[in-house]
Amino acid sequence: MRRSEWLVRVNVVAILLDLCGYVISRDVLPQSEIYLPDYTVYHNYSTIKYQLKNLISNNPQFIKADWTYRSKQDRPQILLHVSNFTNTFPKLKLLFSYGEHAREFFPVETMFALLHTLLHGVMSSTDSHEHLSSRMVLSNFDLYIIVMANPDGRHYLEKSQNYCWRGTSTGVDLNRNFDWQFGNLGSSSNHEDEEYRGQNAFSEPESEIFQHVTSQHKFDAFFSFHSGIRQIYLPYADTRSKQLQLHHDNFHNLLELAKQMSHATKYYFRYGEGYTLNDYTADGTIFDYMAGVRKIPYSYAVELWGEGDHEGARCFDLFNPRSEDLKAAVTDILPLYWTIFQYFHHIHQSSSRHGGHSVYMPTPYPMLSSDVLRFGHVLLVGVVALTCYFAVHNYLPSCLRCFPRRRIISLRNLSSTFTSFSSMKTT
Ligand SMILES: *[C@@H]1O[C@H](CO)[C@@H](O)[C@H](O)[C@H]1NC(C)=O
Ligand SMILES: *[C@@H]1O[C@H](CO)[C@@H](O)[C@H](O)[C@H]1NC(C)=O
Ligand SMILES: [Zn+2]
Repeated sequence: MRRSEWLVRVNVVAILLDLCGYVISRDVLPQSEIYLPDYTVYHNYSTIKYQLKNLISNNPQFIKADWTYRSKQDRPQILLHVSNFTNTFPKLKLLFSYGEHAREFFPVETMFALLHTLLHGVMSSTDSHEHLSSRMVLSNFDLYIIVMANPDGRHYLEKSQNYCWRGTSTGVDLNRNFDWQFGNLGSSSNHEDEEYRGQNAFSEPESEIFQHVTSQHKFDAFFSFHSGIRQIYLPYADTRSKQLQLHHDNFHNLLELAKQMSHATKYYFRYGEGYTLNDYTADGTIFDYMAGVRKIPYSYAVELWGEGDHEGARCFDLFNPRSEDLKAAVTDILPLYWTIFQYFHHIHQSSSRHGGHSVYMPTPYPMLSSDVLRFGHVLLVGVVALTCYFAVHNYLPSCLRCFPRRRIISLRNLSSTFTSFSSMKTT
């Protein structure tokens, strides 16, 4: 069976599940926020743009920006290129992504701190540690940064003050909209679910930048930054990889850098494959796409901040430090970035000594044999049919009546009603 057929069937199964009400609508209704951010401390979308314009015009030899990638509502996503443009020898290429989820403000604040530190270091005395670090980064890396992958979601959130909002203007979770296991069960076809994946892979204009930038450049590493918890995910996070317990080809190297990152700051970050670290799977994620389709040897989703559920928390301060704690939280995170640069600088140096070629050569992702697929498919359809039958006839007579506002039903979400906010998705 071809992969496309498999996907179609998975979609059919997902639709069936939906109809039976077994996929909950995890409505992200506005909560009455107890804590609101101070926009003289946190950036809002307009101060993000304003401050970037200043940084770029003051440092044209180190930062360039491409404002042409646009969201559905025509807001710039802003692609930065950070490097020492005066020296032109080949450098390592890293891609950082921020702002995929509207409510996660913290990561982009750490990006500003990183840029300020790099640019400040350039100006410091030439024998200072700051200067040497900046020079190491700017002369060895082409750092590309997607500043705000989801500007419409951010705009909507700021305007509505719905600090629980995660998706785009149409509620699509960009981090489920990619062509890696798109449509599988670790995402939703329900528009009101916060993991709504969109009509099809790449249905959202916001997803194009990721495809386009990776077709223009061959990246050595990709990092998708999030917040809500302190965790570092290696690929893969999808349902099928979990079923098959698959490991990425570059697993050991991926793990090594994750381990270094997890110990880089004063906080410990849990790390591991997405599907082992979380109790939920996630299909169609950006970092799995970068690993599995784009074959970027190092691809991570990194959750930079989180203190767990706390009494009285609403959304803003569940995903972000309070304004008065922001500066310290950002400073605490910076060593994680240095660890990334040092790691790649180090492997680059050793690979140059061995002939200049990449240490790591990816091999193709293993495909399932069609028999296993067919069997799994038959089994799945059988289980779904039986479940639906019982749901409709015995246990849940209200199943069809509660449609289309289906609320409490799946086991997964039954447990999440008890853990409440702590079960909201981060990646
Ligand atoms: C963004 O924050 C700035 C600085 O606090 C404020 O002046 C401005 O009105 C805010 N913009 C929007 C669109 O909320
Ligand atoms: C940038 O590169 C140029 C040319 O190699 C070099 O002279 C300059 O010192 C570099 N600046 C920094 C901050 O690395
Ligand atoms: Zn996130």
